[in-house]
Amino acid sequence: MDLFSAVDSEPIRHEMEQLAERIDQLNYEYYMNDRSLVSDQEFDAMLRRLQDLETQYPDLASPLSPTKRVGGEVNKSFRQVEHRFPMLSLSNTYSIEEIEEFEARTRRLLDGEVFSYTCELKYDGVAIGLTYRHGQLVQAVTRGNGAVGDDITLNAKTIPTIPLRLRGDYPDDFEARGEVVFPYKEFDAFNRQREADGDEPFANPRNAASGSLKLQDSAECAKRRLMFCMYFMMAPDGIALPDTHYGRLDWARQMGFKVQPYIKECRDITEIKAFIDHWDRARWELPFGTDGIVIKVNQTSLWDRLGLTAKSPRWAIAYKFKAERVSTPLLSVDYQVGRTGKVTPVANLAPVHLGGTTVRRATLVNADFIASFDIHQGDHLFIEKGGEIIPKVVGVDTDKRTVGGEQPAIAFPRRCPVCGAELVRVEGEAAHYCPNGDGCHPQIIGRLEHFVSRKAMNIEGLGPERLELLYGAGLVRNVADLYDLRREQLVGLGTDATIQDKGADNLLQALETSKEVPFERVLFALGMRYVGEVGAKKLARYFKDIDTLLAASEEELAQVEDVGAVTAKAVSEWLNDPHHRAIVERLRAAGLQMSFRQTAAGSQLEGLTFVVSGVFERFSRDEIKAHIEQHGGKVAGSISGKTSYLLAGEKMGPEKRKKAEKLGVKIISEQEYMEMVEG
Ligand code: IVH
Repeated sequence: MDLFSAVDSEPIRHEMEQLAERIDQLNYEYYMNDRSLVSDQEFDAMLRRLQDLETQYPDLASPLSPTKRVGGEVNKSFRQVEHRFPMLSLSNTYSIEEIEEFEARTRRLLDGEVFSYTCELKYDGVAIGLTYRHGQLVQAVTRGNGAVGDDITLNAKTIPTIPLRLRGDYPDDFEARGEVVFPYKEFDAFNRQREADGDEPFANPRNAASGSLKLQDSAECAKRRLMFCMYFMMAPDGIALPDTHYGRLDWARQMGFKVQPYIKECRDITEIKAFIDHWDRARWELPFGTDGIVIKVNQTSLWDRLGLTAKSPRWAIAYKFKAERVSTPLLSVDYQVGRTGKVTPVANLAPVHLGGTTVRRATLVNADFIASFDIHQGDHLFIEKGGEIIPKVVGVDTDKRTVGGEQPAIAFPRRCPVCGAELVRVEGEAAHYCPNGDGCHPQIIGRLEHFVSRKAMNIEGLGPERLELLYGAGLVRNVADLYDLRREQLVGLGTDATIQDKGADNLLQALETSKEVPFERVLFALGMRYVGEVGAKKLARYFKDIDTLLAASEEELAQVEDVGAVTAKAVSEWLNDPHHRAIVERLRAAGLQMSFRQTAAGSQLEGLTFVVSGVFERFSRDEIKAHIEQHGGKVAGSISGKTSYLLAGEKMGPEKRKKAEKLGVKIISEQEYMEMVEG
């Protein structure tokens, strides 16, 4: 930069610093103190102004700017880094007696010392370590195997409770450890959105938090509103920290970390047990998950004296809460019919309080599940809720069964509870199915819902109510009927004319647009049993068009990668059903895509098989694989005689190279690959 522009940029730099400081402060007040000092619009305006300036003057943009919280940078890969201080785990126990033993042993070993314990929550999330130098966040790493973890710095920066720059006094070099948790409220909202989008919901907040930290798109991570709970601080030799754990966390709070207030200094086992007791009951009122209590010796100078076992310190222990279990009467069993005809038994229970919510229903999975517990009418069932959000039936409270007056066992129905058709159970499968696909209401609606869903035909404006409406009016019985809908049939539909002119136009337009949806998604939308998104893609690539697929035998179908015998049979049966063939023909006539189109540039790589390894400049690994496929090539997982090229990125392991050399497989760089594709 020349002198002139350096002088010129000073006011800009000043404005950017002021904005960043103000935004940091507002964030802090909002996330740490629950205080909004300005309106959302004002806040957004400041953030946008800073973003604009950063785009205009990238040289002046700080890597710790609050704009980084929004994400947007893409993690090409998650670099493996060695922990400066190994991330130890804690010995843990479900038994109060073992906590008593821990306390007695500690007292014996520290005979003559004055000391105390700290009790705090054990956060149920993902452990990470944050390195700060000169008050600035420089790196965030997952626990990994304790010695080596993944660098997730970009994603960590999007978590509002992770300070990017520290406040007040701080050690010049240290590591802050804590747990990234997905607060219940945010998790629920996120899972609801996933379901609305047709994605599988996450089983629990911990898995979801872990998945979020490994997202390639940091903007996606930013949307999830994760939270960081700090619980530990350590520094290299020569950097002084307070000499109690309590004091360290207190200092951390002043630096701007979110340190939960639920920490108590305890003098003896009685106080420890009271703390455990309290949180065992009160834990469900917390806004995030906790799975136990961590007890640490408070005086850090005593830690060395107590030492370490193989992988955990002797100065701390975790008490784990037992999954909460209650028993409640079974009132009745519903049998739900899904879009594939699968019948799932669901228990209606006498409402019971469990883990912070009222449980009224729980799945009984299938006939085998009911038989394995030997569930009878009127039984009391044990229900458990651990880290999982969904309550589970774990047994029958046989003590509550009235002797002699025992009621009959739950008998799985022989007929479909909705349409009355005789249920079938395929050999080797646990589920019962209703075979009356075309005459059974939930199956018809379920198939329509699946067909229009985002990952299938993505037809907007056709939620379950609309579909019911169209079905009720006799306009739609199957997916092909959708494309016969006419404007005059739609306008004024519904008791209070739910569909108006504009709604009808939008719907017809959405149907028109869906005719461009690629063949593989059309196949997925048809809803063949066991054919998910990936399976549909594999079928589409392999058979190329619908006619070849319709002509395929069961044996040919089983040739397709990842299509097993069971799927091949189901697909073959589906394709050979005359009714399904008629629907496919009507969809073809309507103009839906019925052949596989090589997207993008075409087929330069036709007939070539690549193995991809290492880290790349321009692409993430998934992106480069997609790129190969888009250009007609195939991607294989391991090197064999059939491999055409080993596409080697940086940091490729030596074994891959050796194997390629041994088999005479040519090794090419990303640059050479690009030249190959671009000619
Ligand atoms: S202290 C050397 N405190 O539980 C001691 N750990 O197996 C460092 N955890 O890996 C850990 N809440 O991820 C500590 N308040 C808390 C914690 C906590 C959750 C996790 C941590 C650790 C595991 C113990």
